[in-house]
Amino acid sequence: MKKQHLIFAMAVLVAACSPKAPDIEKQIDDILSQLTLEEKVAMVHAQSKFSSPGVPRLGIPEIWCTDGPHGVRAEVLWDKWSQARWTNDSCTAYPALTCLSASFNPEMARLYGESIGEEARYRKKTVLLGPGVNIYRHPLGGRNFEYMGEDPYLSATMVVPYVQGVQSKGVAACVKHFCLNNDEINRHTVNVNVDDRTLYEIYLPAFKAAVTEGGAWSIMGAYNLYQDQHLCHNERILMDILKGEWGFDGVVISDWGGVHDTDEAVHNGMDLEYGTWTDGLTMGATNAYDSYFLAKPYLDGIKSGKCGTEELDDKVRRLLRLQFRTNLAETYGHGRFVCPEHSEAARRIADEGIVLLKNDGGLLPVKDAEKILVVGENAFKMLTVGGGSSSLKVKYEVSPLEALKARFPEAEIVFERGYSSGAANAQDGISAKFDIAESRSAEQMVADAVAAADGADYVIVFGGLNKNNFQDCEGVDRRQYGLPYGQDELVEALAKVAGDRLVFVNISGNAVAMPWADKVPAIVQGWYLGSEAGNALADVLSGDVNPSGKLPFTFPVAMEDGPVFMEEQYPGIQREGEKIIDEYYSEGVLVGYRWYDTKGVKPMFAFGRGLSYTSFEYGEAVLKGRKLSVSVKNTGKVAGAEVVQLYISDSEASVERPSKELKGFRKVFLQPGESRTVSFDITDDALSFFDADAHKWVVEPGEFVAHVGSASDDIRSSVKFNVK
Ligand code: BGC
Repeated sequence: MKKQHLIFAMAVLVAACSPKAPDIEKQIDDILSQLTLEEKVAMVHAQSKFSSPGVPRLGIPEIWCTDGPHGVRAEVLWDKWSQARWTNDSCTAYPALTCLSASFNPEMARLYGESIGEEARYRKKTVLLGPGVNIYRHPLGGRNFEYMGEDPYLSATMVVPYVQGVQSKGVAACVKHFCLNNDEINRHTVNVNVDDRTLYEIYLPAFKAAVTEGGAWSIMGAYNLYQDQHLCHNERILMDILKGEWGFDGVVISDWGGVHDTDEAVHNGMDLEYGTWTDGLTMGATNAYDSYFLAKPYLDGIKSGKCGTEELDDKVRRLLRLQFRTNLAETYGHGRFVCPEHSEAARRIADEGIVLLKNDGGLLPVKDAEKILVVGENAFKMLTVGGGSSSLKVKYEVSPLEALKARFPEAEIVFERGYSSGAANAQDGISAKFDIAESRSAEQMVADAVAAADGADYVIVFGGLNKNNFQDCEGVDRRQYGLPYGQDELVEALAKVAGDRLVFVNISGNAVAMPWADKVPAIVQGWYLGSEAGNALADVLSGDVNPSGKLPFTFPVAMEDGPVFMEEQYPGIQREGEKIIDEYYSEGVLVGYRWYDTKGVKPMFAFGRGLSYTSFEYGEAVLKGRKLSVSVKNTGKVAGAEVVQLYISDSEASVERPSKELKGFRKVFLQPGESRTVSFDITDDALSFFDADAHKWVVEPGEFVAHVGSASDDIRSSVKFNVK
């Protein structure tokens, strides 16, 4: 057997035993010694839109990436974003990560990761470009729907099982976008100014957990800048923090087109460059990929002695480690794709993430309905299509309208569109299965909906945002906090004629204004739910599933009530004579409910809020040492789940601390009459703040309060305690 074949066979054997075995490092040394300089440089940049080369003569496979994070993206052409028109690449779409986070159930995150990991493995992908865990900083952020909400503890808790689930199938998770990429406008030129305490307390924890607890095998740099340096080659973030403080041994992948400088990319931790120049062809002498920052310019630099090879060897070592963990590890099988188990998983996650925000007079669940009027474009528009890189080509997507017809076969289901977004429903050559063109005027659509409400037992509006530009969409932010397309007028008009039986289902990944909230008895947050969207919404509306989701971000009454309201905070101030736009995160750690609570501003719907068709009674919280226990009882008539939330306040601190912060949660499923005691260990982590001067987490002695409750604004019991 030739030497390289022997090495390869041994490598596979060891990988099969344990993907982290130290022997792998020795084999990587051997492989490194056989690679030519040209082969190594070829490995650190793309060869197509979503792949980078292997080393064919040594049997080292190519790396194939795919979006992510809600389903496995359709195959695209070698050098273009448009789809390759394969007929075997229609995936299962899972709920958007906002919905996953709203489940407040780490088991759902594990199920999500495993299921999407299997789909990626089946499609022979090395890396899944997700999950996204940028913090929800303000409601205009175009990609908030792809992330896990406004709270670092919640995001950190949910991201770990997602990453582990994906990687348990032999596919690398690529946690994105690291970091401080909290809005879309000017995403390549925004320079974030943030203090260290805020960075460590708010914007880093989810990434840190993904790396140090989840063991993420790859991470994606962000487009924007921090300390005047692009985040795809940012010395502080990638070298000092990620690879230094956190000891990350995986691969840093660039965001597509996020690399801007060879020298910085070489020295500041960028391992694999993708997407430089949009069509991948225009810039190169022979092949544009050769002109990437980590291609010919890098090779020339090494040959001329301007750069050494130490950094290159480190990058290649990381890439080979990724290979042993994924493509070369045969223990994981071949995955599976679009199967009943994946549909079931998507529906369970959606069922657990839907949030019942309001239910006056117990209007929901739907009972004894002879006629149901369904209103709104989102009752039939395909919402898996659009939104940027998370857009999917799905095997199927069940609309709410179809699902309600199937769930209530006895009832007369009437549909009225009510409003129209006017835009085509397509992206990258993938278009929705039906035409959504509309010829009526906005006024006529409202009038028709109002007329159809006559005699309806329920009027259920499916409105909100969608994946069009300037809605929930990558590359652009929303332009307003209010609902688009005249929906406020529609809801007001329907409230006049059907105010006692009106349900509004808000489909979005962002908070929206609801000036009519007082006039609508039932409001549901319906997210983007993927293939099983309609079925899951029908589950909750019909009461087949008792809602148990909780809001992972606050719905303020008005945008100005929130922490980000000055131009310098967002969209930032352009530097004179430069492209750079400075955004100042001057709200500091007061992000989301931390702001509303501390400033005493009452939101429309608070973080952690979510109702049920049953009721839960809490006992008094009891603290023994650092263990806090509380009993919860289902006092209603149907089974249900409650998310018991633990918040901590630091009563006396030398720095301004938020009024309270989430430091624990537990979802408990209870039969009617059943009660359970839930316990939390209050660790030092739950009490500390990041002392920027000392560069460490500090617990200050003094009084703290532990609060347990059903939402951030619904605390049922509080206990004071002292730390010496
Ligand atoms: C997005 C990433 C995505 C990549 C590849 C970029 O524009 O920011 O999230 O993974 O494209 O599609």
